[in-house]
Amino acid sequence: MQYPDFITLPYIQEYAAQHGEDASDQYPSALPRHFIEAYTKPKQRVFDPFMGFGTSAFVAEDLGRVPYGVEADGERFEWSAGQLEGWQNIICGDAAEIGTYDFPMMDFCITSPPFIPMHENWNPLYGGDPEYAGYDAYLARMAEIFAAVKGVMKHNALIVVHVDNIAHKKSFTPLVRDMSLAVSRSFKPQADVIIKWEDAPDGYALTHCLVFKNA
Ligand SMILES: C[S@@+](CC[C@H](N)C(=O)[O-])C[C@H]1O[C@@H](n2cnc3c(N)ncnc32)[C@H](O)[C@@H]1O
Repeated sequence: MQYPDFITLPYIQEYAAQHGEDASDQYPSALPRHFIEAYTKPKQRVFDPFMGFGTSAFVAEDLGRVPYGVEADGERFEWSAGQLEGWQNIICGDAAEIGTYDFPMMDFCITSPPFIPMHENWNPLYGGDPEYAGYDAYLARMAEIFAAVKGVMKHNALIVVHVDNIAHKKSFTPLVRDMSLAVSRSFKPQADVIIKWEDAPDGYALTHCLVFKNA
């Protein structure tokens, strides 16, 4: 398959959650819409191990695909479970435990993991537990989670991971590179598709979608 270097998408969120600032965690629905349409067929299973407010799942259902996923936060889980026809396919839990949730094999995965800058000494994947704090622990856990994702992906399935570098006055975090290395421990890298946003909020002109194959 040929992958583009750049695509342009409208900065559109069709399923905005009414959760104040938290909703900034949502990616524009135009992003999963583009990749689900391009890389899957109707009735195929679309997996998101970090569902957040369920954007990937809502788009998948709208396009006649079957969404599955995991979300650790109870309120976010309930927000999407309450609106999805296939609510029984989503789990409120830890993506590292995917192997215990009895999921069927998936045709495609698209996700946006939580991000942290490298100077932070907490870890969104462990709810701030100091025993697991810091960027290295975060990346190690990310590698473990994607190893668990591999267990539910069909052979040759594609995995799309949305990620940004983080520019901060204290440090620059090359998260696109580091996430790519973590996910590459389980999946074969295929491309870094850069998305140019149309009509994005100031300062958010570009984002990255890393494409991997379960080869
Ligand atoms: C960037 S948000 C995803 C947003 C989503 N793409 C959307 O549009 O709503 C990442 C999500 O991962 C969840 N999360 C963090 N650690 C997790 C874990 N170990 N297992 C499952 N979900 C987790 C967070 O609660 C957060 O909602």
